[in-house]
Amino acid sequence: MSIIISPSLLSADFLNLKLDLERLNSVDNLWLHLDVMDGHFVPNLTFGEPVLNKVKSVSKHKLDAHFMVTNPDFYIESFKDVGLHNFTFHWEAVTHHDRMISKAKTFYPSVGISLNPSTPLSVIPKYILGKIDLILLMSVNPGFGGQKFIPEVVDKVIELDKLRHEYNFNFQIQVDGGITDQNAGYLIQAGANNLVAGSYIFTAPEHDYLSRINKIR
Ligand code: DX5
Ligand code: ZN
Repeated sequence: MSIIISPSLLSADFLNLKLDLERLNSVDNLWLHLDVMDGHFVPNLTFGEPVLNKVKSVSKHKLDAHFMVTNPDFYIESFKDVGLHNFTFHWEAVTHHDRMISKAKTFYPSVGISLNPSTPLSVIPKYILGKIDLILLMSVNPGFGGQKFIPEVVDKVIELDKLRHEYNFNFQIQVDGGITDQNAGYLIQAGANNLVAGSYIFTAPEHDYLSRINKIR
């Protein structure tokens, strides 16, 4: 599997969003990571469907939405016209996981499940692992960009990659939070194939995001 880098829009320059999106348009193997927060599941608010519709009109990349919200089922239908490629919801926010996955799959080509750093992999039954397209392992407590990487997530990636091989599952392993050129290598070696990075990419001097993306790869 080739490594996908997913720059998180949360750290982009919101006053010059179009420029930032255009700077990323020529980069290959890139998803655009969109953190949707509701001020309830996490103590922060971000953006919703009207803003993402505008993002879609400029970005050439696959849109990867990470819903840090209490009721992700509310948004399955209301986001359907944004053209999301991937719809990730938090395991901790949902009671009827199987129903949620089946419904999301009718609208989106890829459906993912996210786990907070303190949620063990064992909460997800194997048959669910066989149904989903992506597992997002949070390597910070969700809610904010620019936090410090929690190194214990590397072991979680190793454990998940082992399961993926053992049962021949097809899901991607995405890691999100505090990723830089200092920890990306460990994550890739552990089996991650999709790395989200916000502040590390968007604080590049002279807006040279490509050099930061290449350093992560
Ligand atoms: C945090 C978000 C992340 C965040 C990552 O809750 O899910 O996607 O934007 O930002 P960095 O890379 O700065 O930790
Ligand atoms: Zn995220």
